[in-house]
Amino acid sequence: MYDTIVESAFRRDVVQGLSASQKTLSSKYFYNAAGDELFRQIMACPEYYLSRAEEQLLRDHSAAMVRACAKRLGYFDIVELGAGDGSKTVHLLREALQQGCIHQYIPIDIPASSVDYLLHTLAPQLPGLAIEGIVGEYLPALDQALTASQRPKLVLFLGATIGNLLPAEAWAFCWQLRERLRPGNLLLVGFDLKKDPATILAAYNDQAGLTSAFNLNLLQHINDELGGNFEVGAFAHYPVCDPATGACKSYLISQCAQRVTLDDGTAFEFAPGEAIYMEVSQKYSVAEIEELGRTARFLSVHTFFDAQQRFVDVLWQRG
Ligand code: AVJ
Repeated sequence: MYDTIVESAFRRDVVQGLSASQKTLSSKYFYNAAGDELFRQIMACPEYYLSRAEEQLLRDHSAAMVRACAKRLGYFDIVELGAGDGSKTVHLLREALQQGCIHQYIPIDIPASSVDYLLHTLAPQLPGLAIEGIVGEYLPALDQALTASQRPKLVLFLGATIGNLLPAEAWAFCWQLRERLRPGNLLLVGFDLKKDPATILAAYNDQAGLTSAFNLNLLQHINDELGGNFEVGAFAHYPVCDPATGACKSYLISQCAQRVTLDDGTAFEFAPGEAIYMEVSQKYSVAEIEELGRTARFLSVHTFFDAQQRFVDVLWQRG
């Protein structure tokens, strides 16, 4: 049942996106089994600094973070949006266990495979921690997590996942988060900072071709799930980074005139050189992050930097 709903939403979004005058596909569909595996490889590649920066940040600051949370929340639950593989969160959870202030960890993600993966990798590393995963879209699953108990909550939205939203969408999302939290609840959000655009561009254009494969995998995913006939090799990965706006965008460029169909007969024409807009990975200045928090009516508690100041996790409180 859930799979059918998910498949029809995927079909609707793909048809809508490829029928638009600027063709587009949503990066939220990158993460099937092959996409998850490619993303794990991206996180380990030399150019993709984001994951290492945030992991170091969490290793360095999790004691201070947990103290700041315990001071405001007492004994609390940690809810994580888009929990991924948990390799960074483990530092925070271990510290919260040590300080004796965590009751339960509630990771939220789609698909189910990633929540399963997380349970299997994290549980053995954190004996004594109650873990209760939820499979679903962020906001409905968050409602479920927030109403499941009266305990205060720390909500995590790490890994610069917020960067997949344009700034106006990020603001709307933060606003929706704030509306759901109870007064006093905390939110920890990871942002990648503006920096030398060459460094950013390299992170999305790695030598090994992992990011290219990651983008092209979505075309394969359409072939597999929707009976598409994309010739994956007839598209080329093309990332661009605009230092003024902080938007790093990825496109797939059609290498020739071609026509692609789905199993329901829907057809899409591609001109040579035509672009499919795949993903934005938005970068922020510290001032822009402060502005975002303020306009979404959060109170800023603390901004944590990695040692090289490439990345921040900001701790915000709902007033
Ligand atoms: C998981 C959204 C943080 O935008 O940096 C990595 C995804 N895309 N390489 C990012 C991604 C291409 C990643 N986030």
